[in-house]
Amino acid sequence: MRALPGESCREHFRAFLGSPLVFSFFDKQTSTWTYLAVDPATREFVVIDPVLDYDNTTGTASTQTADCILDFIKRKGLKISRILETHAHADHLTASQYLKAKLPGNVPVCIGKRITQVQKMFAPRYGLDPASLADAFDIYLEDDEEFKIGELSCRVIHIPGHTVDHIGYVIGKSAFTGDSIFMPDIGSARADFPGGNAKDLYSSLHRLLASPQDYRLFPCHDYPPEGRDPNCIATVDEQRQSNVHVKTGISESCFIKVREARDATLTAPKLLHPSLRVNICAGRLPSEDGSRRTSE
Ligand SMILES: [Fe+2]
Repeated sequence: MRALPGESCREHFRAFLGSPLVFSFFDKQTSTWTYLAVDPATREFVVIDPVLDYDNTTGTASTQTADCILDFIKRKGLKISRILETHAHADHLTASQYLKAKLPGNVPVCIGKRITQVQKMFAPRYGLDPASLADAFDIYLEDDEEFKIGELSCRVIHIPGHTVDHIGYVIGKSAFTGDSIFMPDIGSARADFPGGNAKDLYSSLHRLLASPQDYRLFPCHDYPPEGRDPNCIATVDEQRQSNVHVKTGISESCFIKVREARDATLTAPKLLHPSLRVNICAGRLPSEDGSRRTSE
């Protein structure tokens, strides 16, 4: 039987009841979770960290994963409110501009205000003028800013460490934590990218762990060991009890030592340059912004 477009993104699809309703889609190529957080009263929703498929050998992007999510949105009759990024990803390309073009209305693409620091750091490497990226995103979110998703409120929290611009989104008792805390058996995100550091990450992780114990934390990635399916949810209580990097009792100095030792063994992400090149432009591909460079 012919594989349907986007089929792989439904393979580990999960739905979580509550307010917000949460639907999660797993991209196997980059081990990334994309979330839809939905206000059940109005069907308004946000999409968080959508993935654009990318073939690094040919330098071409494709949209099976994003199309799978678009199809789900259509079938459920959901109404888009915003497209949210947690940070400038270095391991996958964002599908935000593709979704913006395909969904009704002029949906704003949002990111934390410190993306300008990341743009300044990386734009020259890709032959771009950081000043030309000033309006790349539609909304630059402030720390602790709140906005509505239907009848729900979403609060922005600055949780640096993986990157300097990194933010999370707290909606009801659910927090979308990007690359900060991961599943308890994995621990935490790497902290060795420019602008990142383990000390800031430790503070951010403890900010998340200071939330009420029944809050649900949803990470941007999962890297399951052999024999475990990808997972995307752990409560604050579960993380406090068993996170291998930051469970209760692990000191800052111990965390930093473990995190830095681990980071020293990690190689650069396969899609590092295509990802940063596109993601600092809010998901615009080089062909869409006048540049002739497609990848490095
Ligand atoms: Fe990341």
